[in-house]
Amino acid sequence: MRHTKVIDLLNGSSLLQEITAKGWVKTFRNNQFIALNDGSTIHNIQCVVDFENFPAELLKKVTTGAAIAVKGTLIESQGAGQKFEIQVKSLEILGESDPEKFPIQPKKHSLEFLRENAHLRVRTNVFGAIMRVRSVLSYAVHKYFQESGFVYVNTPIITGSDAEGAGEMFQVTSLSLDGNAPKNEDGTINYKEDFFGKHTNLTVSGQLEAETYAMALGQVYTFGPTFRAENSNTSRHLAEFWMIEPEVAFNDLDANMDLAEDFIKSIIRHVMEKCEDDLKFLEQRLKDEEKSKPQAERSEMSLIEKLQFVLENNFKRVSYTEAIDILKASKPNKNKKFQYIIEEWGADLQSEHERFLVEKHFKCPVILFDYPANIKAFYMRLNEDGKTVRAMDILFPGIGEIVGGSQREERYDVLVEKMKALDISEEELWWYLDTRRFGSAVHSGFGLGFERMVLFVTGMTNIRDVIPFPRTPQNAEF
Ligand code: 4AD
Ligand code: MG
Repeated sequence: MRHTKVIDLLNGSSLLQEITAKGWVKTFRNNQFIALNDGSTIHNIQCVVDFENFPAELLKKVTTGAAIAVKGTLIESQGAGQKFEIQVKSLEILGESDPEKFPIQPKKHSLEFLRENAHLRVRTNVFGAIMRVRSVLSYAVHKYFQESGFVYVNTPIITGSDAEGAGEMFQVTSLSLDGNAPKNEDGTINYKEDFFGKHTNLTVSGQLEAETYAMALGQVYTFGPTFRAENSNTSRHLAEFWMIEPEVAFNDLDANMDLAEDFIKSIIRHVMEKCEDDLKFLEQRLKDEEKSKPQAERSEMSLIEKLQFVLENNFKRVSYTEAIDILKASKPNKNKKFQYIIEEWGADLQSEHERFLVEKHFKCPVILFDYPANIKAFYMRLNEDGKTVRAMDILFPGIGEIVGGSQREERYDVLVEKMKALDISEEELWWYLDTRRFGSAVHSGFGLGFERMVLFVTGMTNIRDVIPFPRTPQNAEF
């Protein structure tokens, strides 16, 4: 007999029918009530066992974490808390789980503890919910772009270029070095030129390659893993994260902002529709967590209200220069709001400045644009003032920067000059420069850090908790 998923059992459509359910035991109460979950929903199905009809030896093996199959009848439940339950007629242990050894007990574990057990933490309600939401969000990303006529492009993971020019790359070396491996003068292997004699690294962004495709296919997007060798131990940075990078020919910066805002709202709307139960569960988790905080630090809005708020309000569009004026005016040394005080126009914003703008000043998502050229990447379009570029960052409450993007410098001469000034090799980026040599056009794009989006939607606070196997300076097992 095929088994029925718990999510389908819970909608009652097989009421009074003989069914089979398979899953993992969450709890077994009073030798009678098994809470069974199979990952299809946050909810468990209650399986009622008449223990007199089952050998005690068998029931002993119904422990938290064990995989079991039950056969029985789906009936309406008399108990509070669930509408339907299974009256169990037969029970099979598929895989035992020693309760003395299984690390995930039916109690609240700290997120730190669970991080050390990344392979098992998904068996908790919280991580089950997060990972389902993450999956639905990635579907929403593809849905949005596919339905808007974008072409999905797979850009290389191993690349010779540094798209961001920030030098935060992991170098690629091969382990199976043969006699032909490039050698240094002293005979040792030259790891720097290890990719068949070339220097390569893991990509920090698929943007430059996506630009070449936008110049033929019009609207493209990437959605893939990206790598940053920044040794920043923050709750917002990973060494390996997933990025979504749309790139659109003939879009200027305003159109880029419109696209980003519409896209973000669309994926939030989708996840709110499809993940109602998981979001409600995560909302409650957050409420419980906030109870331990002083009143003043508690969020004014619940998780779902926050998501709703983003959907209903326009993102505030503010130039870098205006933002600096606001920060200067509000920085007063007297209340020492910022550790890093913005003294001058031209300084890069620290995350505390971004959070001030979003959480205290505007109290809504903010799109900052027209940044000073010298704090942004080489490929951004220079404004007529000669000192700012058509860059945009989207800042979110509780997160800070969630999107970084720009209108690209489409003028060959200006781009080459910029590259020269920054010592970026024209020979290495000859292919990129070809986009400006042949049929160049105004174009724009942005990168959304997928995990930062998942953080926002789930209300989690540490980025290590929204990716299955986080890669950080501390976590590289598994
Ligand atoms: O601002 P970034 O560095 O922009 C780019 O890479 C551009 N090439 C994007 C483009 O225009 N196509 O990164 C984009 C976003 C950030 O806003 C942030 O959300 C996320 O990627 N991000 C990270 N997320 C997690 N861990 C890290 N170490 C991240 N670095 C950037
Ligand atoms: Mg950025």
